[in-house]
Amino acid sequence: MIYTENMRLRAVERGDIESFYRWINDPDVNDGLAIYLPMSLSDEQAWFENLAKREKAEKPLSIEIRESKDWRLIGNCAFFDIDWRVRCAELGIMLGEKTIWNRGHGSTAVRLLCKHGFETLNLNRIFLHVHESNPRAIRTYEKCGFVHEGRLRQANFKHGHYEDMLLMGMLASEWQSKV
Ligand SMILES: CC(C)(COP(=O)(O)OP(=O)(O)OC[C@H]1O[C@@H](n2cnc3c(N)ncnc32)[C@H](O)[C@@H]1OP(=O)(O)O)[C@@H](O)C(=O)NCCC(=O)NCCS
Repeated sequence: MIYTENMRLRAVERGDIESFYRWINDPDVNDGLAIYLPMSLSDEQAWFENLAKREKAEKPLSIEIRESKDWRLIGNCAFFDIDWRVRCAELGIMLGEKTIWNRGHGSTAVRLLCKHGFETLNLNRIFLHVHESNPRAIRTYEKCGFVHEGRLRQANFKHGHYEDMLLMGMLASEWQSKV
């Protein structure tokens, strides 16, 4: 597991699936994600069964926070499209429990995943795409040290109109200068 004092990233377990299903179908959570169709519980179960075939470093991680003596599941995160030659990967995150947004948990989880990416997987670049209409996520990534690398014009279509996607990234050298 990947730890800080009050947060851990652990492997996804079958018991997490019902929470993921609930979160992904919540319009407020879903709005910032690439998923745009309703997901059934069986879709989510099939997704879980397929995880066994994924490259190990691309398996998603469940995010838990410490609450007194227990751990509470609040979201998940992952690297995907890892390119081992260029040593880069895309990062994704979803905190499904809206009541705990804006308390710093997203930033802590992003930093933990970046630490894992740079210091364990030996990545040189971590990047992500974020909807222009998702200021909370943009601010989270900026706080963690991601820099704006580009704007993909009209790269997304939602709520009846096109919107730009922002490309953000961080290099291992930038990570090292922060820690
Ligand atoms: C994006 C996400 C991971 C952020 O997690 P979080 O725990 O809310 O993030 P943090 O509390 O660490 O930071 C949020 C920051 O955004 C700021 N923020 C919130 N709403 C904002 C808004 N409308 N405009 C500008 N900044 C905003 C907060 O004030 C905070 O910044 P601060 O610490 O400088 O005050 C989480 O909200 C989430 O998973 N959302 C749903 C899925 C999603 O959008 N995923 C990202 C896909 S790219």
